[in-house]
Amino acid sequence: MLPCINGAIPVEMNWNLHRGSPMDTFAFIIHPIDPKRDVSRKYPILGRLLTERQIDFFSTFFPPVYISEIEGITSQATGKQIKGWFIACPYTPRRMMELPERTVYRKIIETGHFAEKLGAQVLGLGAFTSVVGDAGVTIAKALEIPVTTGDSYTVSVAVQAIREAARLMEIPLKEATTAVVGATGSIGQICAELLADDVAELVLIGRREDALDELRTRLQGPAKATIRTSTHLDDISQAQLILTVTNAIHDIIHPEYLQPGSVVCDVARPRDVSAMVAAARDDILVIDGGMVDVPGPVDFHFNFGFPPGKAYACMAETITLALEGRFEDYTLGKEISRSRVDEISRLAVKHGFRLSGFRSFEREVTEQQIEAVRRRAHQARRSD
Ligand SMILES: NC(=O)c1ccc[n+]([C@@H]2O[C@H](COP(=O)([O-])OP(=O)(O)OC[C@H]3O[C@@H](n4cnc5c(N)ncnc54)[C@H](OP(=O)(O)O)[C@@H]3O)[C@@H](O)[C@H]2O)c1
Repeated sequence: MLPCINGAIPVEMNWNLHRGSPMDTFAFIIHPIDPKRDVSRKYPILGRLLTERQIDFFSTFFPPVYISEIEGITSQATGKQIKGWFIACPYTPRRMMELPERTVYRKIIETGHFAEKLGAQVLGLGAFTSVVGDAGVTIAKALEIPVTTGDSYTVSVAVQAIREAARLMEIPLKEATTAVVGATGSIGQICAELLADDVAELVLIGRREDALDELRTRLQGPAKATIRTSTHLDDISQAQLILTVTNAIHDIIHPEYLQPGSVVCDVARPRDVSAMVAAARDDILVIDGGMVDVPGPVDFHFNFGFPPGKAYACMAETITLALEGRFEDYTLGKEISRSRVDEISRLAVKHGFRLSGFRSFEREVTEQQIEAVRRRAHQARRSD
């Protein structure tokens, strides 16, 4: 185990014991999202004692943090084993939004240099480290190793998840009104583009009318769906399927906006969907977007809130690149291409990644629960 905080890093060779050759490696940057909960995962006492505001404040002065070594990942296609590391950029989402962009870049780049010293051959940017500024471009320029935001595979898995949830909730895609919240963002735009091929009506929801209009014009030509735009969040009440992926630092989707029987796929971290939805609406299916099964007996040696053997899609993109030996910048910048989404999906499936079962607010969603949501939605519609 390496020291907790960036300091003298023992250089170790990364040997593949299975094959007697050096192992390919990756690193993935995480950061506290729910400050008290996430700081407690690494520093239980600090997490208990400090308030959220204090964590926000102290995170500014904290160096990058070594979290854990990741082992056991094995390609189903080739048997190749790799190893990796979680390292943390200490900033919270609020801090990343408040501080000058250059200050945030500097801390992420410092965390990236830490990954280089560990021997990582490719670096993934988790959550807000991929959102800030130009989405990885400046960070990649400053580092020796290639970088990816992981957003291409996040898009693929989010769209797969909402399609699968629609099937389980018996919502025919071809008849569904679907809303994408945060539609003008990097992930939102391409999710909207992919869903526009599937659904009857697409509602693009964002804050900037001009950007929404531009997106609608671009998508409307080739799309099968009728496309509308809105700057009013409560317009999600018209949709049976909602994919939400904003960079808001507080929840924005509340129970009163949602129609009975609707599905909400929340890709945002921090979450867009208020915990009140789970508490007050048992006739709605809320799922986390972006969880996949990892090939091989993986041990992350760190609890980031998922059950064993599962990872975020953005982590999976980084791991897939290492398994494939593709040590190049992959998804960078605010425009994600459809060809990258298709390619990384194909490579991830080849190496054994699969869309995992559903989770909602850190709990597994069972088929029985989905059936119960369907029943209650039916009752709610009848009593209206
Ligand atoms: N689950 C995963 O594996 C995973 C992977 C990567 C990223 N993420 C998460 O995905 C989210 C989005 O990432 P991104 O790279 O697409 O960010 P982005 O490019 O910055 O886009 C975010 C979009 O959200 C919009 N927005 C913010 N607040 C809003 C509100 N109240 N109502 C409607 N729209 C709002 C922004 O609008 P403006 O254009 O007006 O600012 C922007 O268009 C982040 O939370 C990130 O942490 C998750």
